[in-house]
Amino acid sequence: MPMMLALALTLVGGGFALLVPRPQTAVAQPGTSVLAQGRELYENACISCHGANLQGVPERGPSLVGVGDAAVYFQVSTGRMPLAREDDRGYRKDPAPQFDPATEEGRQNLAALGAYVEAGAGGPGVPAESGPELIGSDVPHGSALFRLNCASCHNFTGRGGILAGGRFPPGLQEATPEQMYTAMLSGPMAMPVFSERQLTPEEKKDIIAYVLAVRGQNNAPGGYALGEFGPVTEGVVAILVGLVALVGVAAWIGARS
Ligand code: HEC
Ligand code: HEC
Repeated sequence: MPMMLALALTLVGGGFALLVPRPQTAVAQPGTSVLAQGRELYENACISCHGANLQGVPERGPSLVGVGDAAVYFQVSTGRMPLAREDDRGYRKDPAPQFDPATEEGRQNLAALGAYVEAGAGGPGVPAESGPELIGSDVPHGSALFRLNCASCHNFTGRGGILAGGRFPPGLQEATPEQMYTAMLSGPMAMPVFSERQLTPEEKKDIIAYVLAVRGQNNAPGGYALGEFGPVTEGVVAILVGLVALVGVAAWIGARS
């Protein structure tokens, strides 16, 4: 009987522990120090154009309400933001040193800034994975998806193109997997947003794999990059291969007769 009671108590206790909500862990919510760091970075580099409450400043910068961590990562890590002057908008350049994703400090600052903007106003976050984890394995699938969703603006091999109204969608030769993923999530300027429903994370990763796979071929309009000398080398190779084949056939005929 005492054993039964102990068992019953354990079961009730266990069930109770499952039902009671756990307190939010520190991992789910960025710590206050991270938010404070993000706020400081924001106030130094962004507030003049995007406002004290992310609401935007007329004639200077749009509202950042709802753009999320993904847009911040994309815009700042590709050097588009912080804007230096009103006129040099929308082009990739070297990121500000303090936001360079190639450095540990840069990655921390980007994360803090993104956490601050997202904590204030929501929006899509950056993917939890990074680097090679964002590269899918199904390149043909990525190629088909790229043709459907991206090639109309970025060209079949990601070389960039022209939009109506004189906008130039950039080539995709430089974007990192993180930048490609957050570009899709945030849809900068004339680019549409591709939410996780429109293109699942797996589909986004396959697109990234495709873009990376065709990157090396972009400089050789004639086809495969044979030492990057262009179509001339291809012609030479074709002639050589043809000659060898002809000699082989001649020798074969000679041997038979
Ligand atoms: C000199 C003004 C200026 C500064 C400084 C500036 N921005 Fe911007 N920002 C703009 C403008 C203008 C746009 C609109 C871009 C466009 O349409 O070319 C923009 C767009 C953005 C967007 C895209 C919004 C969207 O709807 O997708 C994000 C995100 C952003 N800025 C973040 C930042 C962050 C973070 C900083 C600080 C590190 C910053 N900006 C500093 C002017 C500025
Ligand atoms: C309607 C045209 C359009 C479509 C469709 C489109 N994009 Fe874009 N994309 C743009 C424009 C315009 C920019 C430049 C935005 C800016 O400079 O702020 C851009 C920027 C980018 C960048 C940033 C490049 C860099 O080096 O900074 C990436 C990466 C990108 N797009 C990937 C994609 C992918 C992947 C798809 C398909 C899933 C796609 N885009 C579909 C128009 C488009």
